[in-house]
Amino acid sequence: MKINISNATFSSIVGIGEKVKKAELESGEKYLALNRGVNAVVDINLSEIVKQIDFNSKEFQVYAPTRGFNNLRDSIINEYFQSKKEKLKNISITPGGMPALDLVIQLVDAKRVFFPKLYWGSYSKIATIRGKKYLFYNDLSNFDNLSEDDLVFICDPNNPTGIKMDDHYLFESIKEITKKGATVLFDSPYRKIFYDDDFFDKLSEIDNVIIVESFSKWIGLSGLRVGFIYSNNDIFNSELNIRLLYEFNGISSASQIVVDKIISTKEGKLAHTEFRKETINNIQQNIDFLKRNSLLVENIYENRLPIGIFAVINRDEDFLFRNRIGAVGMDKFCYSDKDIYSKYSRVSVSVKNSIFTEYLGKIL
Ligand SMILES: Cc1ncc(COP(=O)(O)O)c(C=O)c1O
Repeated sequence: MKINISNATFSSIVGIGEKVKKAELESGEKYLALNRGVNAVVDINLSEIVKQIDFNSKEFQVYAPTRGFNNLRDSIINEYFQSKKEKLKNISITPGGMPALDLVIQLVDAKRVFFPKLYWGSYSKIATIRGKKYLFYNDLSNFDNLSEDDLVFICDPNNPTGIKMDDHYLFESIKEITKKGATVLFDSPYRKIFYDDDFFDKLSEIDNVIIVESFSKWIGLSGLRVGFIYSNNDIFNSELNIRLLYEFNGISSASQIVVDKIISTKEGKLAHTEFRKETINNIQQNIDFLKRNSLLVENIYENRLPIGIFAVINRDEDFLFRNRIGAVGMDKFCYSDKDIYSKYSRVSVSVKNSIFTEYLGKIL
């Protein structure tokens, strides 16, 4: 058998997760898994949602439409786009954010793809698999010669630093970049944990912006594999429709129904509000702990603070692992200066504050 080799390597984040589990089994000791990109303060309570689902319905049991259930797309319009029904045609449901990023990289005919200097490693893996040339930017005002051959990824709050840009600066920069003909891919699945405003709606009015969103983070349901793509480009949407059909043949009906109930019903909204409140509260306490104990990397944060769900600390991955803390070395989130960044680690701050301080207290 002859195999097409992608030249991408397996995710080190997933690799570290496996290493933590193995160490726990072998030593019988509990590790604190801060290597993960999920909210682990509390689970979202779905008890009231489950009661509302009819498992014996056609809707639950049979293929969903290629671009997703209209009910869910409609609820997304209400949740993200100020109930503007004319935007419904611009929304396609996807099985989470990762496949959505992969589809955008394939569909946009860009010669160069730009990632932030500190970036989620999966971006470059996807670009490698799809044979796209990628480069890096320091900040959004420092591009030269952007054109329609370029695709710029934006992740805010950033994975891995947890830094949130000023919204006005972010918005104006996106306008500038897209004015030059470049496409902006806005991939910010952590934003809605912290914000409930009209930013996505404003963003959706700018031409050449593609929004990739996910329900993995802000409602805590990474296991359901639901996200969406928003684009106001009709040709893009029509190609996307074809690709969604032949890649996925419909996204899980069950998952779409659950997500729809969470973002559209009174009980669902209460559940995600509680989930986010508890999550943010613990995140803030954890960031405060890192700051008080001088664990944040100064040359990354300068006079700012991360908002979460990640922070970068001045201890390396091996040291943390020896102290039974799973974390990901920052060399996995950059392309150059790996020797400098390997002294630092990305940790999730979305865990219970009592456990966080118990484990991190031991490394001071
Ligand atoms: C920046 C960023 N984008 C997208 C995703 C994709 O998540 P999912 O495929 O679960 O929607 C993640 C997950 O870790 C992420 O950190």
